[in-house]
Amino acid sequence: MRDYILSLDQGTSISKAILFNKKGEIVAQVQKEYEQYYPKPGWIEQDAKEIWYSQASVAEEVLTKTGLTGKDIAGIGITNQRETTIIWDKETGEPINNAIVWQDRRTSHLCDKLKEQGYSQKIKEKTGLILDAFFSATKIQWLLNNIEGAREKAERGKLAFGTVDSWLIWKLTKGELHITDVSNASRTMLYNIHELCWDKELLELLDIPESILPKVCSSSEIYGHTRRSMFGEEIPISGICGDQQAALFGQACFEKGMVKNTYNTGCFMLMNTGDEPVESKNDLITTIAWGIGDKPTYALEGSVFIGGAVVQWLRDSLNLIHSIEEIESLALTEKDNGGVYIVPSFTGLGAPYWDQYARGTFWGLNMGTSIGHIARASLECIAHRSSDVLKTMEADSGIKVEQLRGGGLMANDTLLQYQADFLGIPIVRPEIKEITAVGAAYLAGLGVGFWNSVEEIQDHWKLDKEYEVKMDEEIVKHHKKYWEKAVSRSQNWIDADE
Ligand code: G3P
Repeated sequence: MRDYILSLDQGTSISKAILFNKKGEIVAQVQKEYEQYYPKPGWIEQDAKEIWYSQASVAEEVLTKTGLTGKDIAGIGITNQRETTIIWDKETGEPINNAIVWQDRRTSHLCDKLKEQGYSQKIKEKTGLILDAFFSATKIQWLLNNIEGAREKAERGKLAFGTVDSWLIWKLTKGELHITDVSNASRTMLYNIHELCWDKELLELLDIPESILPKVCSSSEIYGHTRRSMFGEEIPISGICGDQQAALFGQACFEKGMVKNTYNTGCFMLMNTGDEPVESKNDLITTIAWGIGDKPTYALEGSVFIGGAVVQWLRDSLNLIHSIEEIESLALTEKDNGGVYIVPSFTGLGAPYWDQYARGTFWGLNMGTSIGHIARASLECIAHRSSDVLKTMEADSGIKVEQLRGGGLMANDTLLQYQADFLGIPIVRPEIKEITAVGAAYLAGLGVGFWNSVEEIQDHWKLDKEYEVKMDEEIVKHHKKYWEKAVSRSQNWIDADE
C-alpha cells in the first residue's frame, strides 16, 4: 500500500527528506547540512553535485530508517531554495560551474546597467519582480558569458538551465525530464506571470537562448517517475513548488489576505492575493504562489535575504556559539539589547529597501556590550526586518493583517515574541515545524489523489502556540527609532564602481 508521501526539501543550507502519512503527520525525517562556498566578497556558491548527493542520501536514509521501500510511497513532492542557478550539459549531466546561490551579488552591475537603460518598469510589469541580482536571469547571463564555451554550447542546444527543483528532477529521472513549475519559473525574471510563458522579449534583452529553459508545469500533477535504480521502484513525482510558496501552502494560507512568514536562512513573508496579481507600489514582489490545474494563485512577497543566516554566521564565522539553538538561551542572559543593533545586510538589503550595496553593520557597541546583547540583537534584527515588510504589504494590498502565521528553523519562542511585539499583532505557530515540506507533500498528494481537495487538508493545520503582544508601546517606539537609524546607516556602503 502506498501510504506515504515523500517530501524533498532542498533548502539553502540543509537538504531534508520527510515522510508524511495521510493525516499530514511527520513519520520520519532525515536532514544534512552541506557546504557553502564564498570565492569572493559578495559571491556565494554551492556544488550542484553536493546538493544532489545530500538530497539523494537523505531520501534513501529516511526510507531505510523506517523500513519502508519505494512501494510504500504514493508520490514525491519537491520544494527548493529558489532562484539559485544551475547550468549543466544535457549530454553528460555535468554542471558547467558551481551553482550561483540566490544571495550572490556578482551580477549587481549587470542589473544597474539594465536599470540605467530604463528596463525596471518593463521587467516589473512582465515578471512582477524588482530588477535585482537576487533572481536567476542575470546569473544565467553571467554563466553563459564567463564560463568558457558555455554560450556556444547553449546556442547549439547542448545546455540546460534549472533552479534546484529542475536539477533534482533531472537527476531523479536520469535526464528524462527537464521541467520546473510556475512558482519557480516566476523567480527567474524571465517568466511572464500574466501570460504564463517564458517572455521572448526578456530572453532577447538578456541574450539567453530559449532552448536552455525547462518546460513549465503546474505545481501539482504527475510529471513523470523516478528511475527504478533510485528507490527500487518507479515513484510518481507529483509536486513542485519554490520553498516559500510551499510554506504558504503548508501554513494553509489558502484564503486571500492570509499571510505567513518563514524564518530560515532568509525570511520570506508572503500574502495570498488569490487569482489576481497585485502590483506592488512599495517595492514588494508579485509572484506566483502555486498553480493547480491551469489556474495560478498569486502572492505578494517581501524577501529578506538574511534571517537565520545571521545566527549561522555567529556560529560558523565568529565561533561565538556552537549551535543555532544556543542563540536563544544566550539572548535571554540579558534583559535588553544594551543598545546594540545589527543590520543584517550582509548581501545587500531586499524588500522594501532593495539596496544592492548595503552591507552588514553593528551599531551601539560599547565596553559593556556582552555576547548576550549581541545574541539578543541578532534575534531582534530578524524580527525588525520582517516588520518592515509587513507594513509595506498592508499598504500594497489595502488589507489590515490581523495575525501572522510563523514557522521555520529559527521560529523559536524568543524571536516570535519579538515579532509579535514589534508588529503589534499576534503570531501563531503551527504544531508541525516543517511547514515547507508539508506544503510540498500536500501538492504532491493532491497530484496523485492521495488527498482529494484543499478542504481535506485544511484541517491538518493545528495551533502549537500563540504569541500575544507584550512589550510596552514606548519601548517598541524606542526600538523602532534606533532600528531605522541603523538601517539608514548601513545603506549604500559599497561603492557601486568597486
Ligand atoms: O528565495 C530564496 C529562498 O527560497 C531561500 O529559502 O528557506 O532556504 O532560506 P531558505
